[in-house]
Amino acid sequence: MPCRTIAVANQKGGTGKTATTLNLGTALARMGKRVLLVDADPQGDLTKSLGWKDPDALESPTLADHLNAMIEGTALDPREGTLSHDEGIDLMPANIELAGMEMPILMAMSREQLVNMWMSPLKAHYDFIIFDCAPTLGIIPVNAFVASDSVLVPVSAEYLPASAMTGLLKTVGRVRRQINPSLEVEGILVTLSDSRNNLSHDIEQTIRERYGSTYRVFDTVIPRAVSAAEAPAAGMSVFSYDGDGKVAHAFERFAEEVLDRG
Ligand SMILES: Nc1ncnc2c1ncn2[C@@H]1O[C@H](COP(=O)(O)OP(=O)(O)OP(=O)(O)O)[C@@H](O)[C@H]1O
Ligand SMILES: [Mg+2]
Repeated sequence: MPCRTIAVANQKGGTGKTATTLNLGTALARMGKRVLLVDADPQGDLTKSLGWKDPDALESPTLADHLNAMIEGTALDPREGTLSHDEGIDLMPANIELAGMEMPILMAMSREQLVNMWMSPLKAHYDFIIFDCAPTLGIIPVNAFVASDSVLVPVSAEYLPASAMTGLLKTVGRVRRQINPSLEVEGILVTLSDSRNNLSHDIEQTIRERYGSTYRVFDTVIPRAVSAAEAPAAGMSVFSYDGDGKVAHAFERFAEEVLDRG
């Protein structure tokens, strides 16, 4: 199976990007896939959610070091610093040093290609490489889009996606036209849905009506649950934290939908 690379992105904060990256990755690993998750957010939320509580204290290389190596042309094995999680996924961590890389990246030749240059040799080792992007449309998410086959967009069922969605889709279109013609929108995933709340249902319907004819809107909706909010503090996926819960079941169905297409 050729490696599939997916950027999980939404310019809006708190839409479930990190939770989606972590739990989709774990679900795929449970199905026997070789999965690398890449923390592309200087906040290091994915790194923390997988149990490395103090990403700024990591002594092994992080994504920032790999990007720096690409810019400087220094030798660094692209796998160095990869952390292995006991749920069967690998992680390239990030920390605050990634924020400091924005300017050097912008000044670099091939400034949009650095993540792709780092990632390309890793594709031989994995079935899926999934990027957890920060809630911006800066040069680092653009690098993730250039390196990816598709962009997966988690959207919260708490608010109607408006300008953030338009901005994201515009950026994806721009990357496709100018740099990565094979970039696709993987689809829109409705997250943080509260089944007892009519608003959640209305927002889901509006998303399906507004975007469903142009983009894939996944059938699976990720429900809101206390256990899913607690799992990151325990450093594990919802499968380990509450394997029989509704969020674990939803991510399993979602992973099947993602696999169905590829
Ligand atoms: N299914 C869920 N049920 C309950 N809480 C959830 C669920 N998914 C995520 N959360 C919580 O909601 C918050 C936002 O989720 P998450 O961090 O995944 O969003 P994000 O889009 O990555 O945020 P950011 O834009 O800051 O990177 C977190 O506190 C997370 O633990
Ligand atoms: Mg996040």
